[in-house]
Amino acid sequence: MKSLKEILKTPNTSISGEQLEAFKRQREAEEREMLQQIMRENLAARQTNLERIFDENSLIPLALRNATFENYESANIHLRRAKEMAYGYAETFKADESKNLLLTGDYGVGKSHLAVSVLKRLIKRDFTGIFITVPELLTKIRSTYNKESNHTELQLLEIIKGVDCLVLDDIGTENGSDWAVSKLFEVVDGRLGKHTIYTTNLDSKATEKKIGERNFSRLMFDTVPVVMTGEDYRRRGFGRDGQ
Ligand SMILES: Nc1ncnc2c1ncn2[C@@H]1O[C@H](COP(=O)(O)OP(=O)(O)O)[C@@H](O)[C@H]1O
Ligand SMILES: [Mg+2]
Repeated sequence: MKSLKEILKTPNTSISGEQLEAFKRQREAEEREMLQQIMRENLAARQTNLERIFDENSLIPLALRNATFENYESANIHLRRAKEMAYGYAETFKADESKNLLLTGDYGVGKSHLAVSVLKRLIKRDFTGIFITVPELLTKIRSTYNKESNHTELQLLEIIKGVDCLVLDDIGTENGSDWAVSKLFEVVDGRLGKHTIYTTNLDSKATEKKIGERNFSRLMFDTVPVVMTGEDYRRRGFGRDGQ
């Protein structure tokens, strides 16, 4: 179809009402397509941005980079239940409805694996998330005190405060200094009303002892505990004592 401009340039041409209607429809279709294209680009940019926040600020160990719900094997009923809880958490996650998870259990049962799986799912669902172990978080905060640091402590805490879901991995492995405990709870308190997933190898008594009674009760606020009982996945096929 010739464009309207071209037709108008031709001498002695008249345009029928029908032709005009066709041009209008074509124009509208083009505009719709353009708008859809912009929306697709916006969505892609937003997704890239969410992934960037996750990648730039998370410190995920190599062994967990590929962790997903799909490749999580549930060796027993406790682990199957834990996977279902984590999966349900990711699927029903709402930004304005605070709910936390505390994944507890022995080494290698897949606590961090499930926490990473939740975050990956949330990012696909357009939420923001960061995965960090508590000792690494404290080291990151401490490194901002260095004059050459790219971030100030405030900037770092703002990023951490702002994400929809924060995984604080391995609570209880930090040194228990007053500074460490009070910093940790500055972070937790700063995220009031947001979601946090905690993982720990300690049982509740030991966690309470490590972080103090008041902080422990703060940590348990709106938090669903998930106890993961099982064998160390890395040693599957071997006896408990490596036989
Ligand atoms: N049930 C599981 N299915 C598949 N891989 C697992 C499972 N449990 C653990 N792993 C893998 O074993 C390693 C240790 O798991 P991790 O999640 O770090 O354990 P935890 O945090 O409980 O100490 C990781 O590479 C993880 O991907
Ligand atoms: Mg772990």
